[in-house]
Amino acid sequence: MRRSVILGTGSALPKRRVSNAELAMRVDTSDEWIVERTGIRFRHIAGDDETTGSLATDAARRAIEAAGIDAADIDLIVLATATPDQTFPATATRVQAALAIDDCVAFDVGAVCSGFLYALQVADSMIRAGAHTRALVIGAETFSRIVDWEDRTTCVLFGDGAGAIVLEAQDGDDRGILATRLHADGRHNGLLYVDGGPSTTGTVGKLRMKGREVFRHAVVNLAAVMNETLAVTGHTPEQVDWVVPHQANARILDATARKLNLPPEKVIVTVDVHANTSAASVPLALDTAVRDGRIRRGNLLVLEAMGGGFTWGAAIVRY
Ligand code: COA
Repeated sequence: MRRSVILGTGSALPKRRVSNAELAMRVDTSDEWIVERTGIRFRHIAGDDETTGSLATDAARRAIEAAGIDAADIDLIVLATATPDQTFPATATRVQAALAIDDCVAFDVGAVCSGFLYALQVADSMIRAGAHTRALVIGAETFSRIVDWEDRTTCVLFGDGAGAIVLEAQDGDDRGILATRLHADGRHNGLLYVDGGPSTTGTVGKLRMKGREVFRHAVVNLAAVMNETLAVTGHTPEQVDWVVPHQANARILDATARKLNLPPEKVIVTVDVHANTSAASVPLALDTAVRDGRIRRGNLLVLEAMGGGFTWGAAIVRY
């Protein structure tokens, strides 16, 4: 069977790291409140010389190096972002140009915090259909540019960064991406959205969120889609080596793991040092755990995410 196997991972963070104490000088908040309600201690914030495209390119370079291939071997780039460098062209084409890839297919996918899961399913489908052999799948964001820095209920939650993987078509049954499941429910647009856009206000807009409601939906939807995807491959939660979740809030990670009877030691947590980097958070967490040696070849992974839309999804991967 033709499968998409993860050859390598990479990630990139802006140079500037911002603590809760630093934010408390800007808005009426405290390190204690942020840590207790979210588990977040630090986030990286892009400087003037750093963009979604530049972070994505750095992450992609590292993934290509880890994969042991040449950039020219890539024939597909799918980049998930809600904070593109330009309204168009796609940020994926900026990455392509920066990597000096002469010809390939390159486009962006927009599903906010679930964007990486959406991009993964798109790339996996194109690889399994036989149209492509080596794909870069990237999640990259600069949410600091759309956060309302006057709104303490949201500005403390987000950070910037990028993560990338290289997928390669290989033959085999129990390896690579084994199953993906995606969902969307557009009725919940008003719970998490940006109040601007090219076709409505003509402005970029700022992020707005009803955090408590989002929290409630997140735990229910994430547990359900993880169970649904595990049922496709026939694995039990006990067989899972690592959960690589979207990093929105430590309490969401705990509550979701509890619902699946997964011990917290099996959950990769980076929300404390990255905060919520939207589409970048799953590949950033994946790369972190691959590079620190926790995730090893042969491990069974569950990737999951939920975000604005709402959109949500999960993937079962034999790394
Ligand atoms: N510092 C201090 N106090 C704050 C604060 C901050 N940064 N942000 C909010 N508060 C206050 C509120 O004003 C409120 O005060 P009040 O009771 O006097 O009105 C109080 O803290 C509780 O607010 P509430 O929103 O009920 O807190 P919460 O426990 O629901 O936590 C979130 C808020 C945002 C951390 C939480 O709801 C959450 O994580 N939601 C999911 C967000 C998410 O993951 N979004 C992305 C999904 S992709």
